[in-house]
Amino acid sequence: MKIQNGLIFLLLCNLTAFADNQNLNYTKYAERAKAIVSTMTLQEKIGQMTLPCLEFVMQEGGLQIIHKTELGGVLVGGNTTPPNGLLLEHWQELAKNINDNAPKIPLLLGTDAVHGNQHIEGAVIFPHNIGLGATHDEELIQQIATWTAYDVKQSGFNWVYAPTVAAVHDYRWGRTYESFSNDPALVKALSTQYILGAQAILHDKITGVLTSTKHFIGDGNTDEGLDEGNASIIDLTRFLEENYPGFEGAFSASTGNVMISYSSIDQRPMSLNKDFLQQYLFPNFTGFVVSDYEAIDKAALTLHQSYRETLAEAINGGIDMVMFGSDYPYFYQSIEDFQRILLDDVNNGSINLSRIDEAVTRILQVKIAMGLLDNKKPILKKPNQDENTIALQAAEESLVLLKNKTNTEKTVLPLNIQKMKNIILLGDQGYQYNQQGLPEPNGIYKFDDIGSQCGGWTIDWQGYEGNQYAGQNATSVLTGIKNILGNNTHYLQNPDDLDTELNNPMYTTQNTVAIAVIAEFPYAEFMGDIGNHNPLYYFRLNPFAPPNQLSDLVINYDEKTLERIKALKKANIPVITVLLSGRPMIINASADAPLNLSDAFIAAWLPGTTGGQAIANALFGLYHFGEKENANTLPLAWPASMAQLGHLSCLPNHNQENIPLFACNAGLKD
Ligand code: BGC
Repeated sequence: MKIQNGLIFLLLCNLTAFADNQNLNYTKYAERAKAIVSTMTLQEKIGQMTLPCLEFVMQEGGLQIIHKTELGGVLVGGNTTPPNGLLLEHWQELAKNINDNAPKIPLLLGTDAVHGNQHIEGAVIFPHNIGLGATHDEELIQQIATWTAYDVKQSGFNWVYAPTVAAVHDYRWGRTYESFSNDPALVKALSTQYILGAQAILHDKITGVLTSTKHFIGDGNTDEGLDEGNASIIDLTRFLEENYPGFEGAFSASTGNVMISYSSIDQRPMSLNKDFLQQYLFPNFTGFVVSDYEAIDKAALTLHQSYRETLAEAINGGIDMVMFGSDYPYFYQSIEDFQRILLDDVNNGSINLSRIDEAVTRILQVKIAMGLLDNKKPILKKPNQDENTIALQAAEESLVLLKNKTNTEKTVLPLNIQKMKNIILLGDQGYQYNQQGLPEPNGIYKFDDIGSQCGGWTIDWQGYEGNQYAGQNATSVLTGIKNILGNNTHYLQNPDDLDTELNNPMYTTQNTVAIAVIAEFPYAEFMGDIGNHNPLYYFRLNPFAPPNQLSDLVINYDEKTLERIKALKKANIPVITVLLSGRPMIINASADAPLNLSDAFIAAWLPGTTGGQAIANALFGLYHFGEKENANTLPLAWPASMAQLGHLSCLPNHNQENIPLFACNAGLKD
């Protein structure tokens, strides 16, 4: 007993060596920040408030502009790639080159590491937030965040645009997968842990990376799930009850930064919503506020007013740092041009100098907390647990078993490793558009497609299909199964072969199983909005979107797969369907729908690079659904029809008229 206590004590010491996670009020550094501000020129101050994307920097003739314009930070956007390649060393080289051109005050280097340091080829990619919601595992989320912070720091960056703390309301929203859950309490708990893990505050210093908690507020609560849309508030108390807890969690964990939402509340773009920020953000938050990418430009367009006026409104409303790129040349054509507008706003009195000083003070307080202004930089120790093991655990715990019964009432999962001699792989392929602009299958089956397991925000803004950027440890469903069953098993991995082979006597009901992997295409932001006619979406049609997924969230087997599955059912061969998707989809629309034709059905979300192994482990009983308490359960209610979208909630006081197909927290054990 004594020894055990000693062990526990050691363990605790070890944990505290990583972070003490005390609440940090950034005004602790106000005096030092103000002293610096008092020595700065107006150009330097405006520089601190300027956050362009790397492409804009390069467009202006190179990295020297960073020094010249005294930038506060640089961000790499969704599609940024270093000049020499996508490997860790290339990102390190890029970060070094940027920092070599930094002004006196070191830079913030921002990246969308929303599920691991996703821009890097071969990186470990964790499940997207919706899958993490299904784990309900707070400790695990903290570990994931610390690993992400470690990886981001390794690559030379210091600021992650995560976590998203939206409680998704309507799954037509293309960012549904960035939300942990529709249950505000779960969003709060996981956001808190994410920030504690990522910032890893120790002795009042951020030893990890700065987190940007986003998007304040209501991004997941817009009408019809329209990305960048409007949230009409019928009941403010209810709106806050659903959307605020994530931020409460973030404030309690001392997030150093909040990103303002593109979306509007009652037609008022959040970037300009001073009242809301004053009332609900500033009383509880001492970090600094960043706009979303070109959000002020978009607000100017929406409200048909000049950029100059809109910028002044945004800064006066509480935005401290402006994130932008080069998409609005009629507003400004260069970084210097942008700064001239901000300077004019100050010179003509639209923005008071005191407000500029306040914004810069807020930014510097956080930079000081990050140790950026000290010679001795805070160090984040490499986490003890192996990163792939953590990612695998997360992917395993994220899977939700929605069905496990044949029509003779027998359970199918777990499959018997010894008995299974034939694995028939089936399901969707990705699409590409040919020269005539017509969609055609691209030959990448989802059962062997790590890109689709990862979804959007992986390597590229919109993600990718296939396996070309995955590291050695990454597994597709096919490789995951092969890792378990080895080469003595027969894998039918070209579905076309099934048409001639099905009558082969080697396939018996006892030794054969069919695994169909169906999937959404990878997407991010408005490009993933479906069924809500988002004008942004139609403006730039997703190049990967198969035609059957452009208009609604109904997912069916494609024609050929359906035919094969019917033949397999006739032969009494069990069919298991795995769905890779960023959201719940309509899986029971007809008698031939995937849920109805499957003997077992797994919602796998976007499980990341270890997702294939996790799925295989769960299929073959090396991991059991519900093995860990509360894991493998739905983080939101699963709709029975399109008509229910936007009308389901995990809140207990929600109207009960809409009975979901599966309720919040549903999930079978095996
Ligand atoms: C997204 C943000 C993201 C930013 C930077 C925006 O389009 O809304 O979530 O952090 O781009 O890439």
